[in-house]
Amino acid sequence: MYLQHFGLREMPFALTPNTGFFFALAPHAEALQVLQTALQTGEGFIKVTGEVGTGKTLILRKLLNDLPAPLRCAYLPNPCLSPNELRWALALELGLKYSANIDQQQLTSLIQHQLMALAAHGHSVVLILDEAQALPQESLETLRLFTNLETESRKLLQVVLFGQPELDERLASPELRQLRQRITFSYRLRPLNRQEIEAYVQHRLKVAGLSDTGLFDSAAIAAIARASRGIPRLINILAHKALMLGFGEGLQRIGRRQALGAIRDTEDASKPIWPNWLPVLSLSCLMAAAMGLWWRGGGL
Ligand SMILES: Nc1ncnc2c1ncn2[C@@H]1O[C@H](COP(=O)(O)OP(=O)(O)O)[C@@H](O)[C@H]1O
Ligand SMILES: [Mg+2]
Repeated sequence: MYLQHFGLREMPFALTPNTGFFFALAPHAEALQVLQTALQTGEGFIKVTGEVGTGKTLILRKLLNDLPAPLRCAYLPNPCLSPNELRWALALELGLKYSANIDQQQLTSLIQHQLMALAAHGHSVVLILDEAQALPQESLETLRLFTNLETESRKLLQVVLFGQPELDERLASPELRQLRQRITFSYRLRPLNRQEIEAYVQHRLKVAGLSDTGLFDSAAIAAIARASRGIPRLINILAHKALMLGFGEGLQRIGRRQALGAIRDTEDASKPIWPNWLPVLSLSCLMAAAMGLWWRGGGL
């Protein structure tokens, strides 16, 4: 691969949400700030939404790493769970031991007792769900009932939902209005702007071991910015492919041509409206027209 060629220590644009690469861009820093504040105030439900690839799972991992000590965390990465499965999963995360033939009511009361026992020791529990748009409606309702439990000052269980914009559509349904009203803090991740994209690319290259920040020229960055629509995952894909192309051509600097090659090769990237050769063609047409006018006007 291209690591040695460009003087990199590790892959700069891998797709795993690795907190070692976290860059505190405005939307991500703000989302984390909202989460920290909401958790401190002890509110029931907190929600972070964003398009696919905008950085939700990375923020979630960052939150898990930095959770203040009195908060205990239960994390469900894949919440495509029925209400029963959700209870089992929560019980497991809370470290409960129970026999396999326990019924759902007993399980619910075990969970409640455990939450109260933890609260008595000064811990409140944060349940964090990724991909929450996939939660069935009855499971969302089950979660709401758990967050009914509270001490005089705070909830025994706080729930953080990370999800795609479809989550908002689901929550808009009249059946879920009670849950909707419980969401006191929410944040919608926006795509990155041009300056943020450039800073983002430089940051990842620097973390991967590059001291020279000019590896991508500004035309390459501009092309990637446009085609990625500011979505970090797409930026990673395009930057990685452009590096592969540059490496293949033995280049030390990535330009517009490699970026366009990467864009052509990426289904999800927005393609330029004007093909590459169009500006050249239009310039030639303009010149031909000017020549024609000059000729008809009698020339010199
Ligand atoms: N602020 C950021 N700093 C560094 N990398 C980021 C940032 N935001 C997103 N990424 C990267 O973008 C990619 C997509 O992020 P991810 O959290 O998987 O998105 P989502 O969960 O919203 O689909 C990952 O490789 C992630 O590391
Ligand atoms: Mg994710």
